[in-house]
Amino acid sequence: MKIFIDSANVDEIREAASLGLVDGVTTNPSLVAKSGRDFREVIEEICSLVDGPVSAEVTGLQADEMVAEGMEYAAWADNVIIKVPLTREGLKACKRLSSDGIGVNVTLCFSANQALLAAKAGATYISPFIGRLDDIGHDGMQLISDIVEIYNHYPNLETEVLVASVRHPRHVTEAAKLGADVATIPFPVLDKMLLHPKTDSGLEKFLKDWENAKS
Ligand code: E4P
Repeated sequence: MKIFIDSANVDEIREAASLGLVDGVTTNPSLVAKSGRDFREVIEEICSLVDGPVSAEVTGLQADEMVAEGMEYAAWADNVIIKVPLTREGLKACKRLSSDGIGVNVTLCFSANQALLAAKAGATYISPFIGRLDDIGHDGMQLISDIVEIYNHYPNLETEVLVASVRHPRHVTEAAKLGADVATIPFPVLDKMLLHPKTDSGLEKFLKDWENAKS
């Protein structure tokens, strides 16, 4: 499974990239606003830090506006891909951008039928938001299971399932077990994935025994 970082914080992205296992980055307007930086400047910097796709999200609501924004952002760096919302206009924009060879991440997906339509519209990635479904008492992971099952029936659909709105390491484990293509992970969750108290206590004991043997 590919690992993307869900962040517009370049310090976090640089730190995650230094692990050598970051395959891409997703941003959204909230994350960019939180960074307090100019949109173009921050996207260009992120693109210089990672080789993989970096999602830059449009804010227009009409397909023409989304396509114009998408064309502009795609020119900022070779690895920019365009994030559009899963609306009627977003699907139109997805079809037009993908037909022009621009990678598209269709975001704010909350149902299997939405995911099916996005794939038909040529999305490179579909982003189902599992955490936000869990937040309202639904089963986010069931949606991932449904989409993976549906896409597997139609190998000609090339859209990758990008698990979004990840809240904790268990989400990542479950997504991987279901065969999702990508998980976009907030940096604190990535950090938690690599930590285990038994690793720390085991290492401490090994080093203590090593030192004792020498004295
Ligand atoms: C990813 O592309 C989304 O922007 C992100 O995962 C949303 O996560 P949230 O529900 O924690 O805001």
